[in-house]
Amino acid sequence: MGTVHIEAEKGQIAKRVLMPGDPNRAKYIAEKYLENPILVNQLRGELAFTGKYKGVDVTVFSSGMGIGSMGIYSYELFNFYDVDSIIRIGTAGSYTTDFKIFDILVADSAYSKTDFDEEAGREDVEIINSSFELNSAIMDTAALKRINARLGRVHTTEAFYTENKDYTKFIELGCKAVEMETYALLYNAKKFLKKATAILTISDSLITHEEIDPKAREQKLDEMILLALESIIKK
Ligand code: HPA
Repeated sequence: MGTVHIEAEKGQIAKRVLMPGDPNRAKYIAEKYLENPILVNQLRGELAFTGKYKGVDVTVFSSGMGIGSMGIYSYELFNFYDVDSIIRIGTAGSYTTDFKIFDILVADSAYSKTDFDEEAGREDVEIINSSFELNSAIMDTAALKRINARLGRVHTTEAFYTENKDYTKFIELGCKAVEMETYALLYNAKKFLKKATAILTISDSLITHEEIDPKAREQKLDEMILLALESIIKK
């Protein structure tokens, strides 16, 4: 028996989970990197595969887009499936010319103005730190594999299409880039005393307006995927 939103049996989800936003990316990662991947969820089109990476059980589970969707799946994974650690792997829009297209940002914290925290837990948190342990594993792996990854804060927004193009407030709060899921993941990790973080590849710039095309978004993210897999098996 699964949950309201996940059909996998309890034992079919590994303790270590990677979460891309896109189901096609979950399938791509499972087929390319996991030994004997088994499809364990396809409810609502969110795909999850469990297999082994270098002998360690790993599940790749698509989160869908936004705080709402990530909020549901990460809650159920931590609380019902006893998942220990989740690394989100996704894309983000850059707020600074320091982070260019295809650069990698490891989210040491997420800022959000969302009401998700108040509605889920009755407190306004705003900034949540990610797992120091996972971040250390990621930065060690990056150094070892000569992958250029840098730590920084991410802004988790609820609106992709925005009329207000003034990002000064978010930049002043230390945010390097914007995406739509990390805050919900870190909120649930904190709630259940679990480990979570996010590795984000810059897909577009809100300053220079360069962007990578949707196909590259799906497939040219191998460096980030490898970094996530190599790091999650260490923790
Ligand atoms: N805004 C919100 N989410 C995003 C963006 C963006 O510009 N790029 C990638 N995810």
